Formats: sequence, structure tokens, C-alpha cells
Amino acid sequence: MSYKILSVAGARPNFMKIAPVHQALEAEGTFDSRIVHTGQHYDDEMSGVFLRQLGLPDPHAHLGVGSGSHAQQTARVMTSFEQVMIEEEPDAVLVVGDVNSTLAAALVAAKLHVPVGHVEAGLRSFDERMPEEINRKLTDQLADWLFVTEQSGLENLEREGVADERVFFVGNVMIDSLVRCREKARKRPVLDELGIEDSPYVVMTMHRPSNVDEREALETVVRVIENLASEAKVVFPMHPRTRANLRSHDLLDRVLSSPGVEILEPLGYLDFLRLLESANLVVTDSGGIQEETTFLQVPCLTVRENTERPVTVEVGTNELVPLEPKRIVSRARRLMQEENRSYETPPLWDGKAATRIAEVLREELDQSS
Ligand code: UD1
Repeated sequence: MSYKILSVAGARPNFMKIAPVHQALEAEGTFDSRIVHTGQHYDDEMSGVFLRQLGLPDPHAHLGVGSGSHAQQTARVMTSFEQVMIEEEPDAVLVVGDVNSTLAAALVAAKLHVPVGHVEAGLRSFDERMPEEINRKLTDQLADWLFVTEQSGLENLEREGVADERVFFVGNVMIDSLVRCREKARKRPVLDELGIEDSPYVVMTMHRPSNVDEREALETVVRVIENLASEAKVVFPMHPRTRANLRSHDLLDRVLSSPGVEILEPLGYLDFLRLLESANLVVTDSGGIQEETTFLQVPCLTVRENTERPVTVEVGTNELVPLEPKRIVSRARRLMQEENRSYETPPLWDGKAATRIAEVLREELDQSS
């Protein structure tokens, strides 16, 4: 008996989570695994390059929802995905992470009484100003199977009263992708191209609305970049939202002409992995990069008040810092001077999380059929 599974991906951080799951389902032999791309991210460098580099097939369906307000984006995914669900009649739906596409697809599947698995369940920042926090909580309410990456996720779900039988501690599928692609990434000539093969450098990414939407915060981000550049070369692959906001606040030229700063278009998966692995320090507000640097044992300063991934702070690679140039630069200086420290890897971040998910799904679907 073959089970048809629709896995939904829409935004950049989804593709590296969906890829190992799709591949594990295919390898398992009892699944007909199909990818649905919502089109929340649509530029090649935010989407297509990831599909290619991660070895994903062309999506079975492409919803083409594009950008818009949260309600527009969520509603468009729902309307289009409902149609796909009715045509495809899958046995289960998998959603990953915490983006608008995640919640929208979970809601559609739940209303059609199709079981939903949430990959990366249970993470909580306890900050409802983050749209992702709302997406996480609601998706976990809707999901039948909650696949958890770290201990805090188990505790959060228990506190929220989620029944044990729905919760599976499987590890981190994003680390599966990293493990699989690490060797390929090492062959990328990106360090050479940037002239940083033998010099210290900081990788910076910043795209959260709280850091890049208002002028005051954005100007502070620019000062952080300039101050960091006096310590080491700063390489900043820039999210389109950040670039657009810098432009509209007349700050883009200032950053582009800053000495020691390399502003790049968003990088593909392999180039970014290569850049991360050899970085002396990473400064970010991303969710996933906190985990990738933990696995790679690269120190990371996360410019946020909270993190939904506390294990990264517990093992010691990740530190939360406020958006204050002096604080960030003094911590950066200290961390870059430290000798190579070694950190523990969180449990089950071993490259096999997707295989565990495929096993759980088969058992669960066998039981209910
Ligand atoms: C989304 C996720 C966020 C994730 C981030 C990674 C939600 C609520 N947020 O935020 O959790 O960390 O993706 O990138 O789902 N744009 C382009 N090209 C693209 C995609 C977006 O130019 O391919 C621009 C558009 O101007 C758009 C803006 O970026 O308005 C924001 O995109 P959107 O998908 O709404 O949210 P992100 O900020 O990317």
C-alpha cells in the first residue's frame, strides 16, 4: 500500500527542511511523496536555487501566491492549496517551520480531515509580536503528528497540554540537509571569489521586521555593519526586504560604499553553507542560522530579545544581543579572539531526523488504515 504525502514548502527556510523529508519518504518505498510550492518566495535566489542544490524535483504543484500582507498571503495559500488537496486526495500533509505558508496549509488540511505532520514543532519564542510565533502555536494545535527538534519543544508542548502520543522527538531535519551538503559546499569557490580565504570575516544577515522595517532600527543596523567592519571583513548576503528598506530610507548607498563591507545578493544554499562553516563569527536575526552555526560550532550573535531555539544558547554557540552597536562589537571582538572552543551537539542532530519522520509516518498511517 502506498501513501500519498503532500509536503508543503513556500519560503526559503522551508526548502532545506523539506528536501531530506522528501528523500527519506522516497527511500522508504511505501510513499508517493509530492512537493507543493506555495510561491511565498519566488525569486530564483530565494527559491529555485535551493530546489536545484538540494536535489528536489520540480514541485508537483506551484501555487504562485507571491508577496502581500500576512492575511493576503495566508488566504491565497489557503484558497489555492484547498484546490490541490481536493484534486490530489493525499493520505497526509507535511508542513515545516513557521512561515505563513506553514499555517495556511495546515489549516486547509485539518478542515478537510487530512492528517497533518508538523516538522519543527514545539518551538516557542513567547513573543507574539513575531508572526512566526503565531504560526507555530496554531500549526501545533492543528497537527496530528508533531516532530520536535529539541528538548524545549517537548516541554512547551507538554505545558500546552498536547497529548504525548502526538509528539515525536526526531531531531533536526535542517541539520540533515547540512550534513548531506557539507562536502559539496566545501568545493564552492566563494571564499576565494570574495578574497577571504585566509582572512578573518564576519557573516551577517538581517531581515526581521523588528530590525529592518523602521528607520531607527535600520540606521542602527547600518552602524553595526560599519563598526564590525573595523574588526574584520563583513560579508552580508542581503534579504530583498532589507535591501528594499535600506533603499527607501536612503541608506543603501552608505552601506554599499562602506569600506570592508561586502553586500551580496541572497546566496544559494551551498555558497552560504561554505561561508558559514569558515566564518569567525556570525551576526544574524535568523531562526535557522542559529541552529546551523550550533552544528558547525561557529559563534553566533543573534540580534533578538528572545529565541525559540534555546538549545543553541545552552550549548554555548549562540548568544542573544540587543541591537546596540557598542555591545555587539565588544562581544564580537571578544568572541573572535577566543581560541577555537568546542561545543556539544544537541541530541539527535545527526543527519537522520528525516528517516525517523518517515518511519513514524509509516507506522501511524499503517495503524489508521
Ligand atoms: C519569511 C518568513 C520568515 C523567514 C523568512 C526567510 C513569514 C511570516 N516569515 O519572511 O519567518 O525567516 O521568510 O526569508 O512567513 N521578497 C522578494 N523576493 C522573494 C520573496 C520576498 O523580493 O522571493 C520580498 C518582497 O518584497 C516581500 C518581502 O521580501 O514583501 C518579504 O517577504 P515575505 O515572504 O512576506 O516574508 P519574509 O520577510 O521573507
